[in-house]
Amino acid sequence: MAQTESVSGPSTDHVEWERKPKSIDANLRDYETAYKNFSWKDVEREFDWSHTGKVNLVHEAVDRHAASWRKNKVALYYTDYDKRDEKFTFQDLKIQTSRAAHALKSLGVKKGDRIGVFLPRIPELYIVILGIHRLGAIPVPLFEAFMQQAVQDRLGNSEANVCITTPALKSRIPLAELPALKKLLLVGASDGLAPNESSYESLTAKAPDWLEPEWLTVDDGLVIHYTSGSTGKSKGALHRQYAMIGHYQTAKWALDLRDDDIYWCTADPGWVTGTSYGIYGPWTLGVSSVVIGGRFDPERWYQTIQRYQVTMWYSAPTAFRMLMSAGEAVPAKYNLKSLRHICSVGEPLNPEALRWVKKITGLAPHETWWMTETGMHIICNYRSLDFKVGCTGKSFPGTYASVVDDAGKEVPPGQLGHLVVKPGWPAMMKEIWNNKPKFDEYFRIPGWYSSGDTAYKDADGYIWYQGRGDDVIKTAGERVGPFEVESALVAHPAVAEAGVIGKPDAVRGQIIKAFIALRKGHQPSDELKKEIADFVKKHLAAHAAPREIDFVEKIPKTRSGKIMRRVLRAMDLGEPVGDVSTMEE
Ligand code: WT7
Repeated sequence: MAQTESVSGPSTDHVEWERKPKSIDANLRDYETAYKNFSWKDVEREFDWSHTGKVNLVHEAVDRHAASWRKNKVALYYTDYDKRDEKFTFQDLKIQTSRAAHALKSLGVKKGDRIGVFLPRIPELYIVILGIHRLGAIPVPLFEAFMQQAVQDRLGNSEANVCITTPALKSRIPLAELPALKKLLLVGASDGLAPNESSYESLTAKAPDWLEPEWLTVDDGLVIHYTSGSTGKSKGALHRQYAMIGHYQTAKWALDLRDDDIYWCTADPGWVTGTSYGIYGPWTLGVSSVVIGGRFDPERWYQTIQRYQVTMWYSAPTAFRMLMSAGEAVPAKYNLKSLRHICSVGEPLNPEALRWVKKITGLAPHETWWMTETGMHIICNYRSLDFKVGCTGKSFPGTYASVVDDAGKEVPPGQLGHLVVKPGWPAMMKEIWNNKPKFDEYFRIPGWYSSGDTAYKDADGYIWYQGRGDDVIKTAGERVGPFEVESALVAHPAVAEAGVIGKPDAVRGQIIKAFIALRKGHQPSDELKKEIADFVKKHLAAHAAPREIDFVEKIPKTRSGKIMRRVLRAMDLGEPVGDVSTMEE
């Protein structure tokens, strides 16, 4: 995007305000004052490690609560509405995560090792991640829908030496392609284990109830989340232990979590929201969390709010829109009155979805903007602060987000530019695993972390997200790199070349659209479209498969061979293709 062009955002003079009652009882009562006086040093003091010098997330999220009045407080309520219906107190988690750590230790896991976690959303997923922390090792969570290629890329790049998985998922782990991966720990295996496999149940059954955490420094690794960019394979964002103070404070002020809350974060720990705000934020605060297994289902979602009397709900615009398309008769059957606060993440929340959620719950979802790489919320709307419907919000205290031109100069209100953040917030990724050049790309604008998003700030200081400035696709809140999809497509025998874009969609935000040039001897057909989409589903992941395919003669490319997605987007909209002077031929 050419930042020097002075493009103005829409006027916000007539926007609708979401006004807050003066008397509102929120953790963050006065945003402006808090922003002015904020210091991360004050937050550090709320962690035991600031007095003891001994750092480990599992101590702050589990052990210290198990040694306090929260010992018998429920940390995790779990149901899959089918086979399992369980709850775990902080004391239970202390025991279970100790046993899990013993099991992993017996497989040779030690500080700094990367450990794949490839599990469906079951309690063991949470226990095992915390068990890995207990050993000072680094979990690499893999979303359960990943197929072989996606799994191979992530376990290969992180050189994980152990992976925890299930008998059903293990066939997607290509051991022959993963020389570093020596052992699998299987949850729910009956018998017939291969020599490199162990049973989670048998190893934990005989393990002691306690294992002292491996003491670390704030700079040691916490977790690696893989995420996509506009070029290349997915990259591993490594976070440090210090991030926990950011998770804690944002969960307290943006999610507004309190000790008496029943909190439901709908995200899977295969994505950063499911760890930062499904594990680290709520549990460093000692808050009770709800997790439900299984697939998205509107009835179950409302039922979950009613059944657990959920007070704080953290979800995503696509989910709200899917609930909206299921109609008003469904929520009318359930009592949703327990809710007191709702937040949203992953993509812009359109005013229509916000109004609909407000209609059925009485509460407007509050935006939280952040990224895998930022590790924690950066721009939010706050429970006690008036906001404009449709805006992304204001910088979290202790962070500074802004809008700049190519040279890093802040642009005047109303002008579009790069959405950037001043480096130095606690949860900023430490590195891109094994890829310094990729890491450096985030800091290409001197003095700033570049998000890749475009935005403008209005005269009242609210930031308005306007879209990605690059080719990254956001489909149903999930971030998909076009290169990964293109690579999967060209592996199909009929495909010669492929170019992939995000196409605007009313429910999913964007859908994945592929342009495909076929190899000689293959004829375009609807069956072939389906076969190609299924091929991507089978090898990469269902959410990464194109929902729309156009067959074309040729994919527009620059002379240096880069796919011109701008041209593909114009072709899709039937718009003029613009300047194609750098195109081949
Ligand atoms: C990208 C990061 C980290 C949470 C899950 C997404 C988009 C995120 C918002 C929001 C508009 C948003 C941005 C960002 N995004 N939150 N509130 N409003 N867009 O993490 O997969 O790393 O994606 O998601 O484009 O760059 P992610």
